[in-house]
Amino acid sequence: MLDFSLSGKVALVTGASYGIGFALAGAYAEQGATIVFNDINQDLVDRGLAAYKDAGITAHGYVCDVTDEEQVNAFVKQVTEEVGHINILVNNAGIIKRIPMCEMTAAEFRQVIDIDLNGPFIMSKAVIPDMIAQGGGKIINICSMMSELGRETVSAYAAAKGGLKMLTKNIASEYGEYNIQCNGIGPGYIATPQTAPLRERQPDGTAEITLQDGAAAGAAENLSVGLYLVSVEPVDTGDYRYRFIPYLVSLPNRSYSAEGEEGDQWIYGEEENRIYVGLKPEREDRYGDLILEKKITAYNETFQGASFVFEVKAVKDDRVVYNDLVSLSFDSYGTQTAIIEKIPAGAQVTVTEIYSGSGYTPADGSYVKNTIITAEGGTAKVSFENQYDGTCNGGNPGVVNHFVYGKDETGGEELQWEKREGASHGTVDNAGK
Ligand SMILES: NC(=O)c1ccc[n+]([C@@H]2O[C@H](COP(=O)([O-])OP(=O)(O)OC[C@H]3O[C@@H](n4cnc5c(N)ncnc54)[C@H](O)[C@@H]3O)[C@@H](O)[C@H]2O)c1
Repeated sequence: MLDFSLSGKVALVTGASYGIGFALAGAYAEQGATIVFNDINQDLVDRGLAAYKDAGITAHGYVCDVTDEEQVNAFVKQVTEEVGHINILVNNAGIIKRIPMCEMTAAEFRQVIDIDLNGPFIMSKAVIPDMIAQGGGKIINICSMMSELGRETVSAYAAAKGGLKMLTKNIASEYGEYNIQCNGIGPGYIATPQTAPLRERQPDGTAEITLQDGAAAGAAENLSVGLYLVSVEPVDTGDYRYRFIPYLVSLPNRSYSAEGEEGDQWIYGEEENRIYVGLKPEREDRYGDLILEKKITAYNETFQGASFVFEVKAVKDDRVVYNDLVSLSFDSYGTQTAIIEKIPAGAQVTVTEIYSGSGYTPADGSYVKNTIITAEGGTAKVSFENQYDGTCNGGNPGVVNHFVYGKDETGGEELQWEKREGASHGTVDNAGK
């Protein structure tokens, strides 16, 4: 199993005394999260607490009806005080009523909408302000294949789960800017108490993982795949940041030949954990800054104003990732710095002094300095030191061109400066070409 690093996180899963919520909470606990759950009465909460204990999980259980706004607000406040800030909310609590639409009362319809759609709305708005204050959070809504499809006898459920899918999209777009990610999981058929009546009608609809209408379905224990929606922290190396984009893989383990119209079929499952989470790494550059420092230890008061121009060129993996000119001007002796921001970390930087105030030569004779950029926090620095060399070569406007502008191998133009042969002085008119 991948390491999803949920330690230090508080995960609140609604209606998680048993069933899908319990399975998801168990998977989060395995990765180090602190589990909080609620249910509609004390008997169910006690049943849940005993089940978590049997599974070796310390869980915090509360009585709270997700449709009651007052109860929910008090519950969220109590959890925040007693357990900690809620980092993950799973809106799992739900009911289904299988009644042909024309036989269903409006009160029955309303009750399903209330628990399956209003409940997630009330819970989400109770936790979002604190998630914003904490810098982000994850909300997962347990939707359904009925978020997409219709089926006989489940009009209220399909209406609620279809609405929940849109609420999910809306929370994601409304609160994404606060680093809150909201996703929905639409499980296929899962063997839980909610689906027990179906199993009575279809006794062989067991916990096998099969493909139903293109979606993976199976036993609740396999739902640890839902983990991928809550965390895979980015990893930083010296020069790069890797983010992980999850994807699901369901592997067939055998096929069999069937007679009749359906022909051969792939069977996904039979054994546990036939659904895997894959992570596709995406690499991003990390960046660092370059400090360019210029020091003049003696200044020519007669000519005044000394200007220096540097070419800053950074190369990483044989690619030029930064190329620009930087100038520093002095009207007395002293030190000046330029900070060049956001150069990809690991880049080799070459800083070339291409012009200088007349009569100023480098103290160490070098016009070219190199360094390597380090990611945030590190400091890459190049220092040049000059002093007035006493020559009387002010020119107009008193700038010396030490370098000529070169061409690349193909004759194309590229900022490449070559030291002028035998000439260490000239005027700005000599620049370029
Ligand atoms: N089982 C499936 O095949 C399946 C498929 C797709 C989606 N789902 C959805 O997954 C979620 C969990 O399903 P399950 O099969 O584990 O159901 P379940 O009936 O086993 O569990 C639902 C839990 O929610 C609780 N609950 C009900 N009303 C509540 C309320 N007002 N406040 C707080 N808690 C309340 C119940 O007491 C129960 O603990 C539901 O939203 C369901 O619609 C289930």
